[in-house]
Amino acid sequence: MNLNNSLRRWVVVGAIALMTGLSASGPAQAAEVEVLHWWTSGGEARSVEELKRLLASQGVTWRDFAVAGGGGDAAMNALKQRVDAGHPPTAAQIKGPAIQDWGRKGVLANLDDVAAAGNWDIKLPRTVAQQMKVDGHWAAVPVNVHRVNWLWINKDLLTKVGGRVPDNWDSFFALADRFKAAGIVPLAHGGQPWQDLTTFEIVGLGVGGADFYRQAFVTMDPAAWRGPTMSRVIDTFRRLKPYTDKEAPGRDWNKATEMVIKGRAGMQFMGDWAKGEFLAAGKKPGSDFVCTAAPGTWNAYIYNIDSFAMFRLSDPQAVQGQKALASTIMSSQFQEIFNLNKGSIPAAVGSDMTHFDHCGQESSAYFVAASLSNTLVPSFAHKMAQSDNHVAAVQAIVARLWDDDSYAPARAQADLVAAASQH
Ligand code: BGC
Repeated sequence: MNLNNSLRRWVVVGAIALMTGLSASGPAQAAEVEVLHWWTSGGEARSVEELKRLLASQGVTWRDFAVAGGGGDAAMNALKQRVDAGHPPTAAQIKGPAIQDWGRKGVLANLDDVAAAGNWDIKLPRTVAQQMKVDGHWAAVPVNVHRVNWLWINKDLLTKVGGRVPDNWDSFFALADRFKAAGIVPLAHGGQPWQDLTTFEIVGLGVGGADFYRQAFVTMDPAAWRGPTMSRVIDTFRRLKPYTDKEAPGRDWNKATEMVIKGRAGMQFMGDWAKGEFLAAGKKPGSDFVCTAAPGTWNAYIYNIDSFAMFRLSDPQAVQGQKALASTIMSSQFQEIFNLNKGSIPAAVGSDMTHFDHCGQESSAYFVAASLSNTLVPSFAHKMAQSDNHVAAVQAIVARLWDDDSYAPARAQADLVAAASQH
């Protein structure tokens, strides 16, 4: 366990106090952490259980503040209400530029002492570390790195239709046609705006490549939104819909994954939190399901890093619990066990990947390779590239493009250009 000295002392003092039955006003009173997150699916819940277990072994109690809803939109609304009411949780699942937004409000804690004791500056890649700091001070901790641009395929169904794993859009649509001809739903989709947008950014990378993706989704350059490459992205995105089923609107992402797991659909585009669902259902990569980079994206990597931002607290005991939470998250033990369940990879550099399956090992290798070849890009849909309000405007247009067949692609593109111009 990667506990710093003062924390170790605190745990020992706490244990002695418990054994000797000291009064509840001293350090014997168990620290409690209240943590806001949106990890409620099967694989997600299994992962978060590991964090609770590790904290419990240090005498820290977990108060769950789970707000269901993939992508976290509902969770963020709940968080705003609590902070506005002057009663923040110990920590909340907040990521990307939103960490800076919360930091600017002056409500986040300073974790510099825990970070120095745990050598976080050395443990984390620089780009990750920078996102966790506000004005040079540590305010958040990363739990993982998810790769977004994956395609998941049911292996039995792939064999049944005599298909091969696609690596470009032509072979993808050829396989989708084979599934369709065999009476199998080719593409499992959950028609919720964040899932539409997740698919859209994957298509954006696959059709346009990393430089185009960066120009459109990271710098929000209206020229990229206006050009012919974006027209092709829109057309390819629209072409996917007839391969989904009529029940897709409103469906949760894990229900879509379940369709692939149970052989009711052939494929799904989704980040590797989907792998957590396959694993929770006892499925094995390679034999039961295939993980492969989405068409045209094998050498690129859309990253989505989950992190917990810590809120400024006044009660010293609550602060101790918070520090225990932060240092536990950064421990190698947690980073391994959590990510083995979650489908992601550890955030720390040089983590031991021997216990990970080939999807995880591939993700880890491509994270490094893409970073060196400048094809590593932040997820727009998962708010790693832009703050909520910029994402929301584009997300609404993309969701309409998916839902409303009468919305002309040229009109949608003009609306997207207008949204990007307001950036
Ligand atoms: C989060 C994942 C989560 C997924 C679905 C993403 O935004 O980063 O951790 O599993 O949403 O809820």
